[in-house]
Amino acid sequence: MGIENSRILNEDLKERIVTAETAASWIGDGMTLGLSGFTRAGDLKAIPDALVKRAETDPFKVNVFTGASLGSDIDRMFAEADIINKRLPFQADPRMRQGINEGSFHFVDQHLSHTSEMLRQGVLPEVDYAILEAVSIKEDGTIIPTTSVGNSLAFAMHAEHIIVEINEAQPGALEGVHDLYAPAPQGQREPIPLVSPEERIGTEGIQVDPAKIKGIIFTNQLDSPSTVTPPDAETRDIAGHLIDFLKEEVRLGKLPENLVPLQSGIGSVANAVFHGLLDSDFEHLQVYSEVLQDSVIDLLDAGKVDFASGCSVTLSEDKMKQVFSNFEDYRDRVVLRPQEISNHPEIIRRLGLISINTAVEMDIYGNVNSTHVGGTKMMNGIGGSGDFARNSRLGIFVTKSIAKDGDISSIVPFVPHVDHTEHDVDVIVTDQGYADLRGLAPRERAGLIIERCAHPSYREQLHDYFEAALERGGQTPHMLEEALAWHREFETNGSMKKLVKS
Ligand code: COA
Repeated sequence: MGIENSRILNEDLKERIVTAETAASWIGDGMTLGLSGFTRAGDLKAIPDALVKRAETDPFKVNVFTGASLGSDIDRMFAEADIINKRLPFQADPRMRQGINEGSFHFVDQHLSHTSEMLRQGVLPEVDYAILEAVSIKEDGTIIPTTSVGNSLAFAMHAEHIIVEINEAQPGALEGVHDLYAPAPQGQREPIPLVSPEERIGTEGIQVDPAKIKGIIFTNQLDSPSTVTPPDAETRDIAGHLIDFLKEEVRLGKLPENLVPLQSGIGSVANAVFHGLLDSDFEHLQVYSEVLQDSVIDLLDAGKVDFASGCSVTLSEDKMKQVFSNFEDYRDRVVLRPQEISNHPEIIRRLGLISINTAVEMDIYGNVNSTHVGGTKMMNGIGGSGDFARNSRLGIFVTKSIAKDGDISSIVPFVPHVDHTEHDVDVIVTDQGYADLRGLAPRERAGLIIERCAHPSYREQLHDYFEAALERGGQTPHMLEEALAWHREFETNGSMKKLVKS
C-alpha cells in the first residue's frame, strides 16, 4: 500500500497531492497565513522553504500567524528573506528578534489564548491559507495533527483554503492523542465542559469540509529538537526553593498532598524546576500546561505525574527518539488540545492551577517583565504566561537573581516593561529563596523580595533605593527620576553594579 493510501483515506483528496513549489505559488502578496507549529512542534517542513525560494525571484510579503514559536529555522528564513509584514503571536528566533527590534516588520505580542478568539470575533484578518502539518487525513476530510495542536483548529475553521503537509516521519500512533474543541461565539457559548486534565471533550482531529483542502504535500522530517539546556546550580536552587514553598503549603493544609494541576512555562529555568519535582516526595501529580517538555516525560516515566495535558510536545533529540519509538506507552497519559483550551482562563481558574513561569526581571513590588530586555528590546513574547498567571490559583514567577555574569540584577527597583502586574504575581522564586506576596501590601513586599530573592551583591543597593523612596511616601513608594537608573547604568556602563556606593 502506497503511503498516500495509508495516510489519505479520502479518495478525492489523493488527486490533490502537489509539490511544495506549486503550493507556494498560490500564496499572494498581502495574504495572511495560519501556520501550524507550537514551540518547534508540528511545524511545516516543506512549504516555508518553497516560499523563501519563490521570494528570491518574486518578492512578496505576508502576515504569518502561528501557534507559538517555530522550529526548522522557519522564522530565521522568513526574517532573512524579508517576506513578513506582520508576525503573531509568539516567536523565539534570534534573527526574527533582530528584525522585530530593528522595526523591519510588525510583531503582535499576544496572550496565546487570544488569537483564536480574535479570529472568531473577526478582529484579525481572515486567514487566506491555513497550512497545517498532519499525520493523516481521514475519509471525511478530518485532519489528524502531529505533535502540536496550537491554533491549527482555529486557522482551519477561519481559512478560505487549507494546505496539508502529511509528515511520514511523525508516528501514526499520534492519532488519538488530540482533543479538538472550539468554544461557540461569545453570546452563544456554553461553559467549556472540562473539569479535570484527563477529560476529553472534543474530536480526535480537525473536522473540515474536504472541499477547502486545496493541496497536500508529503514530507518526511522530524521536528527540530528543543534547545533547552540542562539544569545548572542556580536553576537547581530555584527548584529547591520552589519545592520548599510547595511543601510548606501542604504542611499548612493550603494545598493537597498531590498538589493541584501544574503548569510550567518554556525555557531552561522552567524545565529545571519541573525536573526538581523528580527528586521530591510529591506523587500522583497532574500537569495542565501548554508545552510538554522533556521534564514532563521524565516525570511520567518516574510515575510522579499521572497525566499530562498540553497543546504541544517539544522534546530534545534523545527524548524524541524514546517517546516516539514507544508512543503507545504514553498515549493514554497525554492529551494535546488547542492552545485556546490549554490556556483558557475559564479552565485555569476552574482547575485551580499552580502556574510556574520564567521572568526576565521583577521589581521590588512584584511587577514582572517577561518580554522586553532593557525595557525596549523584544526577547520572545508573553506567550501563555499571562493566561496562566492571571487566572491560576498560584501564579509563581521564577528567575535567576542575576544575569550576564552578575552585571544585571534580575530584581530591580522598577521594571521598565510590565507584562504581569503586582496583582497577578503571587510568589516569586530565585536561586536565593522565595517570597510569598499573597496578601501583602507594596511596602510589605519590598523588604521581603529584597531579603529573600535579590542577589547579595545587590541587596544593599535595593534597600537604599527603597528607604529613600519611603521618604517620598505613597502606596507604592518610588523615586521616579531614579527608578530606571539601573537600566540606564547597564546600557551606558555595562553593569548595574556601577551604582553601588564604594
Ligand atoms: N536582563 C537582561 N537579560 C536577561 C535577564 C535580565 N534581567 N535575565 C535573563 N536574561 C537573558 C539571559 O542572559 C539569556 O541571554 P542569552 O540568551 O544571551 O544567554 C536569556 O535572557 C535567557 O535567559 P535564561 O536564564 O537562559 O532563561 P530561559 O531560557 O529560561 O528564558 C525567558 C527566560 C524569560 C526569556 C523565557 O522564559 C520567556 O521567553 N518567557 C516568556 C514567555 C513565557 O513565559 N512563556 C511561558 C508560557 S507557558
